[in-house]
Order: sequence, then C-alpha cells, then structure tokens
Amino acid sequence: MPEEARYVQFPAVPHGSKHEDGTPVLNRYSSYITRGHDFPGAQAMLYGAGVTDRETMKKSPQIGVASVWWEGNPCNMHLLDLAKTVKKAIVDKGWLAWQYNSIGVSDAISMGSEGMRFSLQTRELIADGIESVTCAQYHDACIAIPGCDKNMPGVIMGMARHNRPSIMVYGGTIGIGYSKLLRKRVNISTCFEAAGAYAYNTLRQPDDDGGDTSKTKEEIIEDIEKSACPGAGACGGMFTANTMASAIESMGLTLPGSSSTPAESPAKMRECVKVADAIQVCLEKNITPRSLLTKRSFENALVMTMALGGSTNAVLHFLAMAQTAEVDLTLDDFQRISNKVPFIADLSPSGKYYMADLYEIGGIPSVQKLLIAAGLLDGDIPTVTGKTLAENVQSFPSLPQDQVIIRPLDNPIKSTGHIQILRGNLAPGGAVAKITGKEGLSFTGKARVFNKEHELDQALARGEIPRDENLVLVVRYEGPKGGPGMPEQLRASGALMGAKLTNVALITDGRYSGASHGFIVGHIVPEAAVGGPIAVVQDGDVITINAATNQITMDVSDEEIQERLRHWKPPKPHVTRGTLAKYAALVSDASHGAVTDLF
Ligand code: FES
Repeated sequence: MPEEARYVQFPAVPHGSKHEDGTPVLNRYSSYITRGHDFPGAQAMLYGAGVTDRETMKKSPQIGVASVWWEGNPCNMHLLDLAKTVKKAIVDKGWLAWQYNSIGVSDAISMGSEGMRFSLQTRELIADGIESVTCAQYHDACIAIPGCDKNMPGVIMGMARHNRPSIMVYGGTIGIGYSKLLRKRVNISTCFEAAGAYAYNTLRQPDDDGGDTSKTKEEIIEDIEKSACPGAGACGGMFTANTMASAIESMGLTLPGSSSTPAESPAKMRECVKVADAIQVCLEKNITPRSLLTKRSFENALVMTMALGGSTNAVLHFLAMAQTAEVDLTLDDFQRISNKVPFIADLSPSGKYYMADLYEIGGIPSVQKLLIAAGLLDGDIPTVTGKTLAENVQSFPSLPQDQVIIRPLDNPIKSTGHIQILRGNLAPGGAVAKITGKEGLSFTGKARVFNKEHELDQALARGEIPRDENLVLVVRYEGPKGGPGMPEQLRASGALMGAKLTNVALITDGRYSGASHGFIVGHIVPEAAVGGPIAVVQDGDVITINAATNQITMDVSDEEIQERLRHWKPPKPHVTRGTLAKYAALVSDASHGAVTDLF
C-alpha cells in the first residue's frame, strides 16, 4: 500500500515557503485554518483561547505541549510544571503554545494487582491521544513530556503517526531513597523484594555493622515504604522509564542529557527553556520524527539498552515504535546487537547504582561519548538539535577515570548484552530473557504451573515454593490477549529475590518490570490464550532455558504437545467490555510489539 494511503493526509504549506515579509512559513499546518476566513469558527475559538491579534493568528506556529501529567504518581506529578515552563519559553518567542495532557498509569502502584492489566495499553492510548490532538487541532509541532514507563514509547508512537516536528523532554529520574532501619539506599524495587523477605520471615536489619537489630519486620517494611520514593521523578534504577529515555536520547529525539537529568534538578528546568529554541530548529529545517526514526537510530537505541542493562520492556516498545514508524526491526535485530555489545553499567536492579549517580559523573551523554568512540554507537545520526549525535555530546565531559559505575569496555560485567532472544518448543514465536550472567547462563528445572500471576503470588505469600528443588515457575494466560494487557510481574519476581529463592527460574507469556532481575523469561509467543505450547505445560515437565544456545524447551515430544493441544480448550475471555476488551481484540503478539494499530 502506498505511503499516502496510510494516514489521513493534511494539507500543509510546502517546507521552505515564505510569508509576504520574507520570513519562513513555520505554521505550515495551522495556517490552513488561520489564514483568510475559511474557518471563522476555528479562529473565534482560538481568539477565545488567547490569540491576541490577526498577525499572530496568521503567522505564528502552534506548538502542542503534551505532558503526561497526573498528580498521583511521582513519575508524573511534576510534569505540568515542566510543561508550563516549556510553554512560557515558546510564548516568549511570540509564538502560540497549547498545553494538553495525556493519561498515564503508575506501574509501581498497579503492580501485582488487577490494575496492572491496564498498564501496557496506555501506551496505545497515549499515542492515540497525541495523534488525535495534533491532527485535529492542526498543530505545527509537538513537544511531549513523558515520565513513566509506557509514556515514552507512547509519545514517540504518537509523534511517528502525525510526523510533525517533535521533541521529547523526559520528566527525569527520581532521587535516591535511604532506609534508616536497613542503613542503606533503597528504591522502589527494594519494596517488591521486601515483600518476599517479609513473607519468608527474612526481613531483618543488618547484623554485621554493630547497629540496631531490634526492629520488627513490620517496622522495617514500613520504613522502606516511606523512604523508597523521596520526591518527583521516574523510578531511579535502569528500569523501563530510564531505559527508554536513555535509548530515545540515543536516537536523537531529545536534547542531549534529557534522560539522565534528574526530575528535580534546576538543569531539568533549563532543558524545558532550551527546548523552545530546539523546536524552532526542527520547524525551520523540517526535522520530523520519521526522519529521525530510522534503522540506524533504532540500532543506537538497542546498543544503549544493552550497554546499560536496560529493561526487557524495551524489546516490546522498540518493536512497537519501529512498526509505527515503518522501520523494519525484528527480534533478530535484538539478538544481533546483544551479541556485539558488552553490558557495562553497574546500575540497579542487578547492580548498585542509580540514574542520579550516573548524572553526577556525566550522565548519558558521557556514556554516548564512550560508545561512539568505540564504534558501537552511530554518532552520525541526525538529531532534534539539527546536529549529529556526536556533535551534541562533544562538549560533554568524558567519564572520569576513577568512576565505578560504567565499566571499561574491555572489562565488562558481561561481554555481550543481557537481553537474549530465546526460541524452542515452548516459544516457537520467540521469548525474551534477561540474563545478566550473575544467575548463570542456563537453568533446568521441573515445571510448576500457575494460571495467572496471582496464583503464584498467593503461593509465595504462603511460603509454598520449596528451596530444595530446581523449579521453573510457569505463569501463563498473562499475555497481551490472555491477561488481557500483558501485566508485569515484578511482585512475583521481586518476592522471589527477596525470599532468596535462587533455586527457581520464572517464565511467562506476560512481561516483567524493568526493576525485575533473576533468571526470568517473558514475552513467550504464542501466548497461552491463543493455544501456544505454554498452555499445555504440566507440573513436572522438565524445562530448560539456555541463554548460550538461545533455547527454551520442555522435554515433551512434538507429538505429545500436539496431543495435549488437541484436548486444550481456549478459556472464555473474562473481560468482554471496555478498554481492555478492545485491546485484547486488536492487539498483536509480543514478538510484534503488542500493538493495536493496523499494520
Ligand atoms: Fe513510573 Fe516506575 S512507576 S517509572
């Protein structure tokens, strides 16, 4: 199908056109409704909304400022303030800026509950919202301000759809919490791991430093809960939000440093001012999202994700973003990049440090410098500044010699990437493993099957997972259609870590939070709800996960699998109305990004 037939076509003044006074036409889209008097109703509404005079109506570009603001989540609660600063910087140019909000949900608040099913589909709702407002209102450009996991891919997908000059301003990372009772730094994943330690009665104060050891587990968990989130900003480890922001910065879609500049730093406010000049550059040079969303820039995103040890959700989101931008990206590209990029960042969840620590030693631009110099990151890609990525980071310092967060490339934590694409008779359509090497490269154990995550959560809460036998815990009917919504399973994976159940691996057709670690495999395709082999795994089947050979198999013959599938019946959908039902009806499989757009 030709490109022209894919999206609604909007009349736009050709790039390079001039107004009568010789100034460039930057209101290439909005001028359709603001020049002359073909749309008096539109102009009346715009005067009503604050346009002051005819000249501004005729000539000013209209910039949509889309914040994923809502006040009940640290990741999002400050985004309205950032958006107001962005708007003021645009208005100070004499231009029109229109703020609007998109919805978002907090993964950390919904984690482990039925609410988590609504999380992934918000990516599509955010994209739908930004596409809708930009196109319906004839905005000439878009500045989006996301803060929490699904926000980032959602706004980029919206930008790719409307394809008008756009910049993302990341809301920024949260600071680092400190638990007085544990006498250590804590973050949101500490809470999920504490749940396992609480259930297995291993939540105690440290006894190796001569300090107080008298507090009860209730007092300790309360202290962790009160200390883990010390202010505004996205979860502070290399979890999904920071992963996506770092990778998107490496694609050239943000100002340099956006992903590592903390949410509450004065530098974040300065970024919000600078973005007004940058969007002018994008308008003048017609730098559009799709001109930046290329195979090369997606490869940069994958390189950064592997180097940092980023979230497995990145696989899902980059596949979805690439499809939206019509870039050919497949699971095999992830494996190819993983094979060549060393994992070098000692960052939470598997490591010690946080994004706020990385900021102190130069942030993502300094990591980009290292990777460009090594030939791993493509420094020649264009960016929203009008310069190349390499030019953007030139003025940033190199990583200090004595820093310990980013390992040298010749002495990595793992010589290849931590994300492994697995296939086998359990996942013929692919699966995604996060293997940092700390857990070993292969695992064999007997299956213990749970239909839905809550069954496993209950078993863990009752202390029913034994420590004396290698087990592969199988959580199924949690895929994009079956969940529905492909919920994250940090509650279970965190509790396993907290309980120090190192004798288990966890596999699922759902997905994991970026804060998850351990021997975990998700995104199993085909999912159970559509009759994938995971639907017929039985307790006691022996499952082998091998990250060295990229296989995930069960020791059940093909004939036996087919025989079991003959007796399998698809479960009745338990959600038949509302947004989740619509999502389940439309969504593609995880190996194709779990998207609802029609490709
Ligand atoms: Fe928003 Fe973790 S809940 S980034």
